[in-house]
Amino acid sequence: MSVAGTKSIETEAPQASPGALLAFWNNPIGKKALMSLTGIILSLYVFAHLLGNMQIYVGAEAINGYAHLLHKNLALLWTARVVLLAAVLVHALAGVQLYLNKANTRPVQYAERVNIISTTASRTMIWSGVLIFAFVIYHVLDLTVGVAHAGPYEDVMPYQNVLSGFRFLPAAIAYVVAMVGVGFHLWHGLYSLFQSLGMSHPRYTPMVQKGAAIVGTLVALANISVPIAVLTGLLR
Ligand code: HEM
Repeated sequence: MSVAGTKSIETEAPQASPGALLAFWNNPIGKKALMSLTGIILSLYVFAHLLGNMQIYVGAEAINGYAHLLHKNLALLWTARVVLLAAVLVHALAGVQLYLNKANTRPVQYAERVNIISTTASRTMIWSGVLIFAFVIYHVLDLTVGVAHAGPYEDVMPYQNVLSGFRFLPAAIAYVVAMVGVGFHLWHGLYSLFQSLGMSHPRYTPMVQKGAAIVGTLVALANISVPIAVLTGLLR
């Protein structure tokens, strides 16, 4: 406690003031850290959502029952939605700003692109990110709100909605293309995340690179299997 007229020698605890948050956001390392944190949240959501989607193979009762359970718990549902939306916005805005900063600090374009350590996934992060952003807007309007749904939409009946939606070929194709984007984005995103967490040792890097490629591919293929199963009549 400081007494009037004497100088306080207390050390102030760091405050998360708007100024400090803005400085953190404006620092490229702070921005990268926010991208990693929001990337972890979004990846966990994609894995959890995939497990939910795979219940379609168990049957209509399993996936519809799971959706009803989630929708009954409104507090949990809306908390998850708010966290996800905040994570998407921070991740996308930071990603676009880092991309633009990088482009602006390279005044002279390379005469010839030399992609020694970059991969297709890393070079296309911004574009797979934009594709996923557009996909999520369409997807929520398609399967959660129902206004962009190709067939008759039934509230909280994902089994019927997924089937009626994917019978419309353009919708199924749009999902397959978006899932390829998700696979590439996860591949480089997970690799980059592990690098940021300090796993950039020459012994581990190839393993992390391979693991991230496998996870990205498996997530994409498992999701792609759903529209394919509907179109081929495996799911009816
Ligand atoms: C073929 C792949 C996919 C299928 C079949 C699918 C299916 C569904 C279904 C049926 C719903 C509505 C669930 C309900 O009403 O309870 C839903 C919601 C949602 N999905 Fe997907 N999904 C797929 C891929 C993805 C991917 C890759 C992402 C993220 C990048 C994603 C993000 C979302 C989001 C944000 C919601 C809204 C959740 C909410 O707030 O209710 N989905 N999905």
